[in-house]
Amino acid sequence: MDVGNKKSSMRVRADRIKPYQCKQLIAVIEDPHDIKNIGTVIRNVNALGVEKAYIVDPKGSLPEDWQDMRERKSLSGTSVSAIKWTFVKRFDSTEQCLDHLESKNFSSIVTSPHMKGRRNVVLHEGDYTIFPKLAVWFGSESRGITDLAVRRSELCVNIPMLGMIESLNLGTTSGIVLYEITKQRRAYQRMYRYKNMRGRKFIA
Ligand SMILES: C[S@@+](CC[C@H](N)C(=O)[O-])C[C@H]1O[C@@H](n2cnc3c(N)ncnc32)[C@H](O)[C@@H]1O
Repeated sequence: MDVGNKKSSMRVRADRIKPYQCKQLIAVIEDPHDIKNIGTVIRNVNALGVEKAYIVDPKGSLPEDWQDMRERKSLSGTSVSAIKWTFVKRFDSTEQCLDHLESKNFSSIVTSPHMKGRRNVVLHEGDYTIFPKLAVWFGSESRGITDLAVRRSELCVNIPMLGMIESLNLGTTSGIVLYEITKQRRAYQRMYRYKNMRGRKFIA
C-alpha cells in the first residue's frame, strides 16, 4: 500500500469539518488570568467551529508567536490539543485588539452578566447573523469586560442569572454563547449556500 499518498486521518477529518466552520467569527478573551479558562475557551472555539481566537494579554504571559503558543504544554494540555488546530493571536491591549478588528471591518459584541451596553440583549433573543464579520468578547474572571470594549461594541449579550450567584465561569459562558452564535451563523451560511446552488442550477 502506498502510505505516502494516503491522507492522514487528521487531514481527512479537517477536510470533512471545513464546510461547518463559521467564517469571519472570532472569539476574544480579554485579560484572562487562569490558564485553564484559556484552554477551555480555545477548546470551545475549536469544537464549535469558530474561525479564530484572540487573546488580550496585557501582562505578557503568553508567547507572541502562534507556533510557540501551540507548543506551550500548559495550553496544549488544558485545551486537549485544540490549540494545535486553532488560530490564536495575542494582543498587548484592548485598544490594540479593537483597532485591529475595526481595521478589518469586524463588529464587536461583548458578553456580561450585567446590562452594560448601549444596547443589551438576552442571548437567545439576539440575531447574530446581521454582522458579516463578528468578534465576540469575553471579560476577565475578576473584573469582567472593560468599559473600553463595551463602548466600542454594538451589543452586550447577557445570559440571565437565575440563582444566587452573580456570574458564570468564563469557560462555561464561552461554550453557551458560542453555541448559540455558531448555530445561528451556520444555519445562515447553509441557507446562503443552498440559495447559491439553486441560483447556479437555474442559470445552467
Ligand atoms: C466570571 S465572569 C466576570 C464577573 C465579573 N464580576 C463581572 O462583573 O463581569 C467572566 C466573564 O464571563 C462572561 N459571563 C459570565 N457570566 C455571564 C452571563 N451571565 N452572561 C454573559 N456573560 C457572562 C463575561 O464575559 C464575563 O466578563
